[in-house]
Amino acid sequence: MMFRYNYPLKELNTFGIDARAERYICPVTEEAAADIMVKEQLSPGNCLVLGGGSNILFTKDFDGTVIQPLFNNIAIEEVLYDSAIISAQAGLEWDKLVEWTVKNDFGGLENLSYIPGSVGAAPMQNIGAYGVEVSEYINRVHAVSIETGAKEIFSKKECLFGYRNSIFKNELKGKYLITKVEFNLKRSPSTYDFSYGNLERRVMERGEPSLSTIREAVISIRSEKLPDPSVTGNAGSFFKNPLISTKEYKRLKSEYDSMPYWEIADGIYKVPAAWLIENTGWKGKKLGQAAVHHKHALVLVNMGNASGSEILDLSKKIIQSVQNMFGIKLEREVNVI
Ligand code: EPU
Repeated sequence: MMFRYNYPLKELNTFGIDARAERYICPVTEEAAADIMVKEQLSPGNCLVLGGGSNILFTKDFDGTVIQPLFNNIAIEEVLYDSAIISAQAGLEWDKLVEWTVKNDFGGLENLSYIPGSVGAAPMQNIGAYGVEVSEYINRVHAVSIETGAKEIFSKKECLFGYRNSIFKNELKGKYLITKVEFNLKRSPSTYDFSYGNLERRVMERGEPSLSTIREAVISIRSEKLPDPSVTGNAGSFFKNPLISTKEYKRLKSEYDSMPYWEIADGIYKVPAAWLIENTGWKGKKLGQAAVHHKHALVLVNMGNASGSEILDLSKKIIQSVQNMFGIKLEREVNVI
C-alpha cells in the first residue's frame, strides 16, 4: 500500500474543486484500512476519510492524510422469510448497490436511486430522497477507529440518525472510518412507498409499481432537475431544509400563503430551502464562477473553475438573504473543509 504525496483531489470531489492532499491512500481491504490507522498513528486532526466526494466542499488544500476506501463487495448475510440482511462495503458506489438490490428483488432502497456518493458516506448524513431516509433500512454500521484502528459495530439506535444527520456528523465527527453497512431489506415486496410529490404519477406512467419502475421514475426525475456532476460540478442539496416551530410556521404562512411545507411531527414543520432561496431571487444567479442552479435553487454549481471559497461566499450571501427576508437561518448540508 503506497502513499501518494501532494495528491490532486479535483477528480475526487463532485464540485470539481482543485485542492490537494498532503498524502493520499486508498486501502483495498478493511484490514488494510485498520492497519494504516495503527501504523501511521493517524488522528482525527490529521486524517480525512473521503467517500465519493459528493458532499464535500474544499476551500483549501488538506494538510494531512486523505483515506479513500476502495473495498466494495456486496454480500447476502442472512435470509429470513420476508426480509434479508445485505451488507455492502464502504467503497462501493451508492447507486451500484441500489441497482443490485433492485435487480435481486430486495426492496427498500429504490427511492434512493441515483444519489451520488459511496455506501460508506450514506449513514454519515443519512441520505434521503422521495420520502425515504436510508436509516429506515440500516441494520448496523461497521467502522474502524481512526485513533486506535479498533473495529466497532454500531447498532441502528447507536447511530442516532436524524434528518441528514447521525452520530458520525456530531460526537464522532472525523473519528471513524465506516467500513461496511448492513441493510435490512424486504424480499420480493408487494407494497411500495412512492407517494412523494409527483413520483406516483411518474411510476404509473411506466406501468405497474415495482422496484424497477420506481427506480426508473426516480432516475428520470432526478436527471431532469439535478445537474450531472460529471458535467457541472455540484454536491446535490447544498443546504438542509430548515425545521421550524408552529409559531414560526404560522408567522411565515400568514405572510407567504404559497409557501410549501411538511408537518413532520407535532409542532415541527419542514420548509423547502429551495423555495426560500428561489423567493429571495437567487435561483439561476451567478457570482464569479459559482452559481445557483437554474433548475433547482438548493443546488450550488461550479460553472467551470470556481474555487471552494467562491462557492462558500455564495452560500454565505444566500444564508444572509434568506435570513433577512424570512428570519430563518439556513444550515449547510455539505461538509466544508
Ligand atoms: N422548490 C422551489 N424551487 C426550486 C426547487 C424546489 O421552490 O428551485 C420547492 C418546490 O415547492 C418543491 C419543494 O421545493 O415542491 C421540494 O423540492 P424537491 O422535491 O426537489 O426536494 P427538496 O426538498 O428541495 C430534498 C432533498 C433532496 C432530494 C429531494 C427529493 C434535502 C436537503 N434535499 O430536496 O436530496 O433529492 O428532497 O426527495 O433534504 C441531496 O440531499 O443532495 C438531495 C438532492
